[in-house]
Amino acid sequence: MKKQSLTGEVFYPSEEVVQKALVKDWEAMDVEAKRDYPGFWGKMAEELHWFQKWDKVIDDSEKPFYKWFTGAKTNIVYNCLDIHVKTFRRNKLALIWEGENGDVKTFSYFALHRETCKFANVLRSMGVKKGDRVTIYMGRTPEIMIAMLACARIGAVHSVVYGGFSVESLSERIEDSNSKVLIVSDGAYQRGKIVPLKQIADEALQRCGTVEHCLVVKRTGIEINMEQGRDMWYHELMNLPIATQACALEIVDSEDPLFILYTSGTTGKPKAILHTHGGYMVGTYTTLKYVFDIHEEDRYWCAADPGWITGHSYIVYGPLLNGTTSFLYEGAPNFPYPNRWWSMIERYGINILYTAPTAIRGLMRFGEAWVNRHDLSSLRILGSVGEPINPEAWRWYHRVVGKEKCPIMDTWWQTETGMFMITPMPCVPLKPGSGTRPFPGIEMDVVDENGKSVKANEEGYLIIKTPWPAMIRTVYKDPERYKQYWEKYPGIYMTGDSARRDEDGYFWIIGRVDDVIKVSGYRLGTAEIESALVSHFSVAEAAAIGLPHEIKGNAIYTYVILKTGIEKSTQLIEELRQHVSHEVGPIAKPEHIEFVDSLPKTRSGKIMRRVLKARALGEDPGNISTLEE
Ligand code: PRX
Repeated sequence: MKKQSLTGEVFYPSEEVVQKALVKDWEAMDVEAKRDYPGFWGKMAEELHWFQKWDKVIDDSEKPFYKWFTGAKTNIVYNCLDIHVKTFRRNKLALIWEGENGDVKTFSYFALHRETCKFANVLRSMGVKKGDRVTIYMGRTPEIMIAMLACARIGAVHSVVYGGFSVESLSERIEDSNSKVLIVSDGAYQRGKIVPLKQIADEALQRCGTVEHCLVVKRTGIEINMEQGRDMWYHELMNLPIATQACALEIVDSEDPLFILYTSGTTGKPKAILHTHGGYMVGTYTTLKYVFDIHEEDRYWCAADPGWITGHSYIVYGPLLNGTTSFLYEGAPNFPYPNRWWSMIERYGINILYTAPTAIRGLMRFGEAWVNRHDLSSLRILGSVGEPINPEAWRWYHRVVGKEKCPIMDTWWQTETGMFMITPMPCVPLKPGSGTRPFPGIEMDVVDENGKSVKANEEGYLIIKTPWPAMIRTVYKDPERYKQYWEKYPGIYMTGDSARRDEDGYFWIIGRVDDVIKVSGYRLGTAEIESALVSHFSVAEAAAIGLPHEIKGNAIYTYVILKTGIEKSTQLIEELRQHVSHEVGPIAKPEHIEFVDSLPKTRSGKIMRRVLKARALGEDPGNISTLEE
């Protein structure tokens, strides 16, 4: 792209970055991918190992249930681990982990392979087999990765529940996935305190009846209840003779399920997004390689949580597929001081940092001095994900953290997409706040209500026009719900986001158009928060909305109608906030609760959150003709 052709504030990549970059000409790659789309992905797939090659790269015979690499046999874990132990990477570090309390553990590819095999044998000995679901509920420790990889190795389907979720969220997800095995840690260190994960799990297990075995990783040593016959220690199991290092890998079909991951949708309960071995493997491998420009000697840090899609794709699978060295940190960015992250980047010589705008805004607040105490010259590439990054935070990240030499990869994608969809590469000129353009070959657009492309700089719905390898295959147990993504405009995937595209073809994400709230980059549904409130004995009805927040991006505001006879009080407000935290998780705790006597509803009884939002912001609610009296 010619320098003079771009409008607005543009940051051009330095000679040094382009020199080193794996892709030096983005346009050429895009042209090649569009010329022969299946051929492009087939070529990427050939860099990985397959036990049997595919008949077809893309199979669209049952649209919108697309299939990728049909007929092929593989197992993602083979490409994550087994392949590397056969090469010089055998002794290369796969993982460097630092606990919040300063504990450190490292794993070579050999060691990670060994631990995975041992644990896979433990799972097999408990009767876990191909296709069975296993729920994992842990903090950010190496064992969460080992647990995920061990499941995948034997063809079981993992369902990781983020450690920031709580009792009802966990029990609902265990029940829905019908998991017979739960893997949990006793607790997790977070900001100097211990989150009692096992205790939360105990309460969740009382509400659902599927789990036969609960395997417990000792991380903190806090006192916990171990139920005889059901609960077993991970470290004891790993010492049993059955936990041998040799573990036959389950060879699976490309389209066999790899994992389900629950995420919030427009209405009702969270849905389980299903991803499969083959396409997901090719998609995460390729995008990580080219976007974060992975070189053999790199040390890469994705500071997300393994319990979200970012962690699945870009902490666990993508980095291991690329044979890179990852860093994983357990705790809070500002513990014990606001220089924790910068100190770790210096100490471990991190080259690539991938995080969320909310973390940047949170750290920005402590000032530059904390960053400047450390030598961050190892950094080469930065990344952002989860919500739009405001230009101010982008510039700070670029100037203070990246010293104006590291390009920022603002990656737009979703649990459903499995991989980066709108993203720059290091050679692409950047505009603060824009993720630039779709990954080569992928076609996306911004359209109006009728599905027609809107003009440059006009707001519209963000849609995806081409299938992609790491795409969602279905909503587990609910194919009808999967079809909804493709219903508004036939054959087109609806992202649920609104966006603009500027005159240079750069996309600018505005936000969700549905009832999903992104709080600190975490995805929550209004329905989850509302049903938690209504489950409290004092609440008759509730409505939740997201309002702009300086650090979190959005904060949760709720409106509550109390049951007759219940007194309003500040004490009750606090009790309700705690109740939501206990049921859904601390991330869902409302910022604000207001008692009201009525809620704006349509004549059919649907809460008009748009009206509540406009009122809270002092804006015009727009068309309210459907509003009930
Ligand atoms: O609204 C978009 C926002 O996050 C949503 C997807 O959330 P989730 O499935 O939890 O996945 C988050 C991590 C991939 C999107 O619909 N989003 C994600 N990345 C960006 C973003 N919004 C703006 N810019 C981004 N880079």
